[in-house]
Amino acid sequence: MSSKQHETIYLEDYQPPAWLISHTELRFELEEEQTLVRAQLRIQANPAVADKRKPLELFGDEGMELSRLCIDGQILEASDYQREAGCLRINNVPESFTLECVTRLLPHENTALEGLYKSDGMFCTQCEAEGFRRITFFPDRPDVMSIFRTTLVADKARYPVLLSNGNPVDTGEDGEGRHWVTWDDPWPKPSYLFALVAGDLALLEDHYTTTSGREVALRIYAERKDLDKLDYAMQSLKNAMRWDEEVYGREYDLDIYMIVAVDFFNMGAMENKGLNIFNTSCVLAHPRTTTDQGFQRVEGVVAHEYFHNWSGNRVTCRDWFQLSLKEGFTVFRDAEFSADMNSRTVKRIEDVTLLRTAQFAEDAGPMAHPVRPESYMEISNFYTLTVYEKGAEVVRMLHTLLGAELFRKGSDLYFERHDGQAVTTDDFVAAMEQVSGRDLSQFKRWYSQAGTPRLQVHDDYDPQSGEYCLTVRQSCPPSPGQDHKQPYQLPLSVGLLAEDGTELYTGMLELTEEEQQFRFDNIARRPVPSLLRGFSAPVKLEYDYTDEQLLMLLRHDSDGFNRWDAGQRLCIRLLQEQMLRYRDGLAMSCSEALVIAWRQLLTDESLDPAMVAQCLRLPSEAQLGELAERIDVTAIHEAREFMRKALAQALEQEWLQAYQRCDTGDDYTADAEAIGRRSLKNLALSYLMAAGREPWLELARQQYEQSDNMTDQLAALTLVAHSEFRETADELLQAFYQQWQHESLVMNQWLAVQASDPTEGALQRVNSLAQHPVFDARNPNKLRSLIGAFCGQNLASFHAEDGSGYVWLADWILTLDRQNPQVASRLLTPLTRWKRYDQGRAAQMQAQLQRMMDTAELSADVYEVVSKSLV
Ligand code: ARG
Ligand code: ZN
Repeated sequence: MSSKQHETIYLEDYQPPAWLISHTELRFELEEEQTLVRAQLRIQANPAVADKRKPLELFGDEGMELSRLCIDGQILEASDYQREAGCLRINNVPESFTLECVTRLLPHENTALEGLYKSDGMFCTQCEAEGFRRITFFPDRPDVMSIFRTTLVADKARYPVLLSNGNPVDTGEDGEGRHWVTWDDPWPKPSYLFALVAGDLALLEDHYTTTSGREVALRIYAERKDLDKLDYAMQSLKNAMRWDEEVYGREYDLDIYMIVAVDFFNMGAMENKGLNIFNTSCVLAHPRTTTDQGFQRVEGVVAHEYFHNWSGNRVTCRDWFQLSLKEGFTVFRDAEFSADMNSRTVKRIEDVTLLRTAQFAEDAGPMAHPVRPESYMEISNFYTLTVYEKGAEVVRMLHTLLGAELFRKGSDLYFERHDGQAVTTDDFVAAMEQVSGRDLSQFKRWYSQAGTPRLQVHDDYDPQSGEYCLTVRQSCPPSPGQDHKQPYQLPLSVGLLAEDGTELYTGMLELTEEEQQFRFDNIARRPVPSLLRGFSAPVKLEYDYTDEQLLMLLRHDSDGFNRWDAGQRLCIRLLQEQMLRYRDGLAMSCSEALVIAWRQLLTDESLDPAMVAQCLRLPSEAQLGELAERIDVTAIHEAREFMRKALAQALEQEWLQAYQRCDTGDDYTADAEAIGRRSLKNLALSYLMAAGREPWLELARQQYEQSDNMTDQLAALTLVAHSEFRETADELLQAFYQQWQHESLVMNQWLAVQASDPTEGALQRVNSLAQHPVFDARNPNKLRSLIGAFCGQNLASFHAEDGSGYVWLADWILTLDRQNPQVASRLLTPLTRWKRYDQGRAAQMQAQLQRMMDTAELSADVYEVVSKSLV
């Protein structure tokens, strides 16, 4: 933690590095009480920078102990250099020299999980974004790329496996039971891609032959007890390697590709060159312990980190403002991979749901920022849904505007032109401009303007002439520091349907103006427009549909995404009506037309169960909140629960039939078809449980007891645990704990199920869970399962009117900030949205933010979020 005033870094202040490091040689003496790091850096003045007399400035964490500093073998006196606020400055250095630097680290005390730390007895690192400066003094910025050679020395019995980037080139014994391994990475890389691992690890090994014939050893390491949970990640890795060759022409470039699973990790995973480090939750998968969602996450994240080898490592970012250059592009790549491996439409629905729920909320909140931010205090706060998911949508729009073929040409040019370089999002767009001959300068506003654009669509039809006209107006609300927005360029994919569903027109309109008209001739009858097909741009689309039109689209639209979206629009409208009635003390009701439409979907056995399940899911409370002017937590909860129960009771027989139809008794597989069937089966069970009758409780219990996979077991447990049948709930929760107490990832689910239980007494329950032996406040996964689930999913309880949820969260943040600022800052998100709530709640949330603000010694992470939220 730093005591200095947290300063703001600006994109416009970017300067190229004055000093370059051609070679970095590292030696780690790993011991129980300390680690000594000897770094030897071959340093040259950057020929591209005119001022050759600049002092050498290296970043290094304030708390890091410097025990030796030499230039070309000469020890420096204390007067030769200055250390202040995370920086080491050495004056009067030659043009070119070797710097030797020894630092002493305390990995076992590193609870921030940045730099070198211990996870369950093994050493590991996390360097992105600025963790390397907690290991040694270095120009720790992505535009300084260096060739690394790393030697690890450790006790052989405790740490038989010693890993770093690249290839092992030498090994030996050091006496006293210690051994060492030297690794050499031939590819120059920024320090954020450095990694090491030392531990007693089990290994799953396989191999892969690239198209051009390179043999690659694939090694996935985990704790011995988890060795049986690595097959799915291995298969996903091989699929991803093949896919990147076929779709992008990209091959792997080292002899070894390693993945290591660690239990203590701040994020999902990290793409360190040749040595990915993964949160166990993103790599371990077994049918008995992992849900379908978990399997798909593993597949997606394994692919994501693999794809980074080109989009991130071979071509990296010039500075951290360019983060979306690698993250947005790589998320787009992994989404397309998952779409190809599974169901394209379902994948799109899931991604858009996340965007609409969480990214739109971020874009409307106090931390809103462009895909390429202009400033930050703490870069860790900018690993956001905007940079990742909206950034991926921006790349997707380029793909849509150019078409697949030109986009591929553009990506080929980008990789070829910038291989080995650290570049900007402008460079990426420039490659797309060059291959397409298009001017994309207006398009680049997607990178520089924050906020979610709004499209308002009106239409006109002249039966005389048969002319149909669409008028589209775009606007974008103000965001911090940006009062006025310029119009965007965006693809608007459109279909025109006759009343019976016949398609009259299909095409893509291109928007560039604030207001634009599009005319269609020879349209015999007033059509129903299907707008923004496939969610062709990350915007909020408004068009005044009638209920009948939405029902028609739900039945007939040839675009699967819009068929689903029409159903969602209708549900949202009906739910919003019930929210108003609830507030006015009127009786709520469920539309008969909706029941009829749902019955049709539910009983049509020719439909894809995965799609039916998507269509019959009501929008979440969080999404309904995002759509509201003022969020009325109680009305949202009550209206949604009312609708769920009404639809459950009106279709009880149909739910049961769907349940039985999907309950095939086949052995577990994690393919899209089986996952789709399970999702409809468990959705049907959830409505049966909502109907609230004893026989369905018995059905859920039966499923809980007889299922051979975590998807079905956890679904049944969750439904019972969140029901009014408290006795059975407690019984199953206890049984589940007994069965799985030694599986850490399963216990995360157990915590999350209870933390998200909306029934009476939620705060008491999470408080006692925080004392439970399976909970560990140092483990980010456990914190997310308990605190994240309570504050993010149990909205009615977190927003209890007495403000108790807010105080509880603020207490946690203040404790965690001293231990792990990154995690503390993330868990804080729900409080930052205080302005969206009613006065009573807003005031209480604001008071908790103010309480944090008044605390001395906040980390930069938490300080930035709290101070910006209070503006
Ligand atoms: N680059 C990683 C990814 O694959 C994310 C690492 C971020 N880590 C962090 N501490 N901010 O998306
Ligand atoms: Zn990434």
